Amino acid sequence: MAIDLTNRVCVITGCAEGIGAALATGFTARGATVVATDIKPPVLPSVAMSLAWDVTDPAAATRVMDAVVARFGRVDAFVANAGIYPRHPWDEITPEDWRKSQAVNLEGSWWGCQAAAKVMVPRGYGKIVTVSSITVRMGTGNLTPYIAAKAGIIGMTQSLARAVGAQGVRVNCVMPGAILTDAEVRLFPDQETVLKKVNEAQAIPGRIGPEAIEPTFAFLCAVESDAITGQVIAVDQGMTAG
Ligand SMILES: NC(=O)c1ccc[n+]([C@@H]2O[C@H](COP(=O)([O-])OP(=O)(O)OC[C@H]3O[C@@H](n4cnc5c(N)ncnc54)[C@H](O)[C@@H]3O)[C@@H](O)[C@H]2O)c1
Repeated sequence: MAIDLTNRVCVITGCAEGIGAALATGFTARGATVVATDIKPPVLPSVAMSLAWDVTDPAAATRVMDAVVARFGRVDAFVANAGIYPRHPWDEITPEDWRKSQAVNLEGSWWGCQAAAKVMVPRGYGKIVTVSSITVRMGTGNLTPYIAAKAGIIGMTQSLARAVGAQGVRVNCVMPGAILTDAEVRLFPDQETVLKKVNEAQAIPGRIGPEAIEPTFAFLCAVESDAITGQVIAVDQGMTAG
């Protein structure tokens, strides 16, 4: 049976492209009422609402959640997907590079999670999904500020899961592997070489598209995963297996 999100109000960050766009489209096809957000309102015709939300602005997190509750009455699920992953050799990282990565990837996720939990706790139910990265386990050398932030997201997820579990709010984390997005193709136009490296690293060869990771997010936003909280699930075709 397909994962069903009928009538679930789902707020997602970073939906203009990549994984977030696939989540917004996929969740909508599963019957969800999707509120798609990005720095500028994402252009996704099928979603219920598109809003501007720069996740580095804590006040914007509260504004968005309030707007969603005013329009749809509740927030059933929140996915803190927005992220940036610029690469820097370790000895060229500037304080600004470091702060920007924490501001978007770690703090931006936190303010969204906090604002979502604040509207979920009084209802006694909600699902929050954060996004880490398998680079936390692989230790990719030129992504230090990003990996520090993405490792922090795991701790944040586990802590929040404990904090709001008694109030019915579930908090879990998806750890994507090497997902083939438009942004990746722009960054690495030589996809033949990328495919070779990916195939060597993964237990199951072949690229993972954003649509292939969407069902894991859908599951974590659906009632079927209500017994799961504080967990990290890698979707990486076995890149981090064993
Ligand atoms: N693609 C991968 O291989 C991969 C692997 C591991 C983890 N991830 C994580 O998955 C998430 C999505 O990645 P993606 O590959 O789809 O990236 P992407 O670059 O394709 O899309 C990211 C989106 O986030 C938005 N964004 C950036 N800064 C923002 C801000 N301050 N406020 C609001 N939105 C902002 C961008 O506008 C963009 O639409 C990120 O958290 C990323 O770290 C991706």
